[in-house]
Order: sequence, then C-alpha cells, then structure tokens
Amino acid sequence: MARRLPVLDAARGEAVEIRIANESIRAFGNESIAAAALASGTRVLSRSLKYHRPRTFFCLEGHCSGCLVRLGGVPNLRACQAPCTAGAEIEGQNAFPSAEVDLLGAVDFLFSRGLDHHTLMTGSSVLNKLANKVVRQLSGLGRLPQSPVSASELPEVAERAVDVCVIGGGPAGLAAAIAAAQRGKRTLLVDDQLRPGGSLRADPRSGRDRAETTWAAAIDAGVEVLARSTAIGFFPEDDGGVLAISSPERLYRVHARAWIWATGGYAVNLPFQENDRPGVIAARAVGRLLVEHGILAGDKVCIVEVPQVARDAEALAAALDHAGAEVVRVALADTLGARGRSWVNGVDTKKGRVDCDLVAVAAIPSPASEGARQQGCKVTLDPDAGGFRIVVDEAGQTSTANVWACGDVTGYMGPARAATDGARVGANVAASLGG
Ligand code: FES
Repeated sequence: MARRLPVLDAARGEAVEIRIANESIRAFGNESIAAAALASGTRVLSRSLKYHRPRTFFCLEGHCSGCLVRLGGVPNLRACQAPCTAGAEIEGQNAFPSAEVDLLGAVDFLFSRGLDHHTLMTGSSVLNKLANKVVRQLSGLGRLPQSPVSASELPEVAERAVDVCVIGGGPAGLAAAIAAAQRGKRTLLVDDQLRPGGSLRADPRSGRDRAETTWAAAIDAGVEVLARSTAIGFFPEDDGGVLAISSPERLYRVHARAWIWATGGYAVNLPFQENDRPGVIAARAVGRLLVEHGILAGDKVCIVEVPQVARDAEALAAALDHAGAEVVRVALADTLGARGRSWVNGVDTKKGRVDCDLVAVAAIPSPASEGARQQGCKVTLDPDAGGFRIVVDEAGQTSTANVWACGDVTGYMGPARAATDGARVGANVAASLGG
C-alpha cells in the first residue's frame, strides 16, 4: 500500500482538498493528481477504450497516456501532469459506473482472445450497423468537454527570438542551458514537466535538492525557463524555421540561432504477460514518487530489469529498502508474467512466484528524438532501447546545421553523465555562435 513518508513533508506544499470520483482526498500543492491519487489509495484512474481493462499511471512523465482522466469537465488530461489545486474535480473515463468497478469490463472476460471490431461478429450489414452504434456508446476516449472553448477566447500567440533554444529540462538540458547562458547567450529552456529536473527527480543518487538547485542555477545564469511547455512541432518553411511551443497559458513561436535537443528518453515497458496491469509501473516512476514526492509506492516491490540498467535498478532497490520496502530483483529473462486484476499482486518467474504489491519495470529509456527528426537530424536505431537516437559528432553537432543534441537522446548515459555531456555541448554551441 502506498504511503507518504514524513521525510519530504516540508516540500509537499500547501495542503489542499481535491475530489476523485466524488470522494474528497487530502493532497498537496506540489503533488501531481496521479501522485496524490496513489497516496490516498485510488489505484484505477480509467479504463482502456476497447476492452475496458483497468488503467492507471505508468511513466508519471506525461508520455504513456495511462493516466488520462476527466478534470474539471475536460476529458483526456494526464493526471501525472496536472498539479493538485483546491477543489479540483477528477473523474475516471470509459467506465460505468466507475473506473474501479466497471461493468463494461465484462468485455475483457467475454472476449479474452480478442474482438474483431470491424465485423463485430455480425453476418449482415444491417446488424453490423446496429452493433456499431452500440459499440460506439460503450467505447471511445471520454466525453466532450462540458464547456468548449471557442477560438476567440484563446490567448494571442507569443513570439520569442533567442540565441539558443534548449528543448528538455533534465540534467543534460539544464546543464547545456546554464553553459550557454553563462557565455552570454540569450537562452530559452523548454520543459514539459511540472518542474524542470527530468531524471534528477527520479534518481535516488541525485535527489530532489539537486534538481531544485540546478533549476535555480539556470535562472541565476539568466536562462528563461518555460515549464509545463511542450515542443509540438518544427516548421522549417516558416520564417527560417519556427518551433511551436504549447504552454498552459499560450502558444509560443520560437526562433533561435541554435537548437539543442536534450529530450532524454521515454520510460518504456518490458515484454511479459499482463504487463499492462495497474501496479506495473516504470522504475523511474517509482523513483520519482520516492525522490520527488516522498511517496513509497509499495511495501513489496519486484523490480523486473534488463542488464543494461542494473546500476540504476540497484540504486532504486537500495533507496526502497532504506524507505522500508521489501525488494526483489528479477531479470526480464526469468520473468513470465504479472498477476492480479485491478492491481498487481505477484510476478511469476522461471524460479517460482514472487509476491508483491508493485512491479517496477527497469528498461533502457527509448530516445525521444521526434523533434530533432523534424529538423532533419540523422538518427539511428538503438535496438536495446527500442527507438532511434540522434547521431552527433564529438562536439554534439547533429547532421543539421545549428542543431545540436546531448544526453540520453543521443544514447542512454544516465543523469550524471548526461549533465556532463550537456555542459560540454552547451559550451560548444556558445562558441559556435561567436562572441
Ligand atoms: S502519461 Fe501520466 S503516467 Fe504516463
């Protein structure tokens, strides 16, 4: 059972009350809704759109869609990217009557071998049309917002012109931005998380304080930081190249003399049976709950890992053990599958069953290289990470002029080496722009 640890009480922020599925929950201003939900015992947030399998968070980084909820009447918002504000109303999606007890979940039992959603097992076109109407009522991703926003209500687009735009506020991005700003370059840093820091906020070896002090150092150096802001597309045909940034307040059009991609990697799942069960979550998310939120996500944790991240898994296991959890580490090669329905309760391995109330999946992060690919940067397949990493030369320059990259998006290196790499590339970029 998840619980808040007293050690981080001072950093949680103001106590607020939010409502999840019509129940009042005590939360804190510096927590995401997903973290507060877990700490208060709310485990299932919504249901999958076709088979109504229970869904909850996996990555806690806004990248997996496992935590989609209806927030304040707006569907499909990520609970892990929404801060707790007093009076927030959160509802599950795709479920009747509730996400925890969903009668439509019978579909998962009845069609355990899959459902052909094209024919819906109907022989005639008339029956097929009828079946389609019924299915459309039962599936899908939430309901439309109660009060839609009209285009005229949207804020004006803002323009930014800088020397260096750094995309990604993890250890590499923060270090690169600091290095560029300290060398006199007007530097903008764009980060999509609630608070910049990236993997520093999930790694027990660095810790929350390191993320806070590095973020503060960036601001001291003169870096403009856009937090909770996502780079949604690069448009080369527009004014010599514009990066569109979506932030909670407005849309930005960013022009830069040089770009640095420091987008890191996505926390991904590993292949074993029933790996989509709630309670099977990314090891980095388990670390984030512990390091950033002071929440111990389970009492008995089974870490399923691949050998390439053994050191990270070891550090997480030690931190969980120190916080009072029982920890068992299992190699992916020995893992057969997870057990449990609405929450995991064990892992079957080749050596027997491991009882647990949380499975932490320690995989190599998959490089988040989509934006750089839009800028024409050469990428190469990283089979172990299951994605494409950006190809850079020794200085950190990509195959596209004035576009650079550093940290895990160029190949997994972990927070400490990523910070060193970011500082080096940030200095190189500043030098390339001249005095
Ligand atoms: S998107 Fe929220 S947990 Fe992955």
